[in-house]
Amino acid sequence: MIILGIESSCDETAAALVEDGRRVLSSVVASQVEEHKLYGGVVPEIASRRHSEAISGVTGEALAQAGLSLGQVDAIAVTYAPGLIGALLVGVNFAKGLALAGDLPLVPVHHLRGHIAANYLSHPGLEPPFLCLVVSGGHSHIVQVEDYTQLQVLARTRDDAAGEAFDKAARAMGIPYPGGVELDKIAETGDPLAYQLPRPKVEGSPLDFSFSGLKTAALNLLHNAAQRGEAVCVPDLCASYRRAVVGCLMASFRQAARETGAKRLAAAGGVSANRLLRRELEAFSQEAGLPLFLPELSLCGDNAAMIAAQGYYELLAGHQAGMELNAYAQRDIQ
Ligand code: KG4
Ligand code: ZN
Repeated sequence: MIILGIESSCDETAAALVEDGRRVLSSVVASQVEEHKLYGGVVPEIASRRHSEAISGVTGEALAQAGLSLGQVDAIAVTYAPGLIGALLVGVNFAKGLALAGDLPLVPVHHLRGHIAANYLSHPGLEPPFLCLVVSGGHSHIVQVEDYTQLQVLARTRDDAAGEAFDKAARAMGIPYPGGVELDKIAETGDPLAYQLPRPKVEGSPLDFSFSGLKTAALNLLHNAAQRGEAVCVPDLCASYRRAVVGCLMASFRQAARETGAKRLAAAGGVSANRLLRRELEAFSQEAGLPLFLPELSLCGDNAAMIAAQGYYELLAGHQAGMELNAYAQRDIQ
């Protein structure tokens, strides 16, 4: 079964063709990041406009690269939540048009379910159940993936997401948006023990995350140094900050794995590309004797192949929508 996936939840317009939820036939991603960089973050209005301009061409390109026509596609899968509402609506409406024109099933896909499904593309043998650390620019969850379409959130962030915490600290250090990527590179050259930073815990919910206090601590450190005319060693601060963020993620993930008796571990989302996080997850997997599944780097960030992959399993489970399908800025993964 061939699924055409469409993704437009944030600042990437993407289309992809995937066979049986596992084999990528083509995957095209048009990034708007250079334009948003000018403003230090994603400007929702610009994102919507660029999606409208790009979506038709990107989809045509994905079909051309796969050597397919719409008539050879079995279903259209589209990200309908969560994300920027105007951006999501572009993808949802375009997907509706395609479904109507091709008389094809329309399959709504939750963006974070899509991120998790990137692992099915990178690891053909991976099947649920597994425990997944889902870390993106907007979300930080620990998810029990019981089945392809049955998921349970065990932990979430109470404030900033891990990616957001990386991006905001990076911005304060003068690193352009999306700073998480560059901060990770710079951190490789710094001393992670140079600066002491807090590792906040959420009282009463030991698995939940909270990154805003850590982010504020880094911002205060930078402001205080500037006021005193002292220099901050950026590579050392990047390394110390990354160690603290990854430390918080790993502490909860380790505890969740222990408590749930997890048999397989996985990670997903843009932050799963983080070098230290990947090393720490590998170390935990070795130590606990549990297999670890990570998406290949090209599938960690936003793409439509992951949406088509999850769309396949949603369709098998009978999850289809009609022309009434709407987009939602927020919606639970469950
Ligand atoms: O999943 P994603 O592409 O988009 C959302 O669904 O939000 O995640 C984007 C986030 C950004 O915050 C970006 O800075 C972060 O992922 N990110 C990283 C790395 N690569 C991307 N954060 C830390 N280290 C990285 N290597
Ligand atoms: Zn994403």
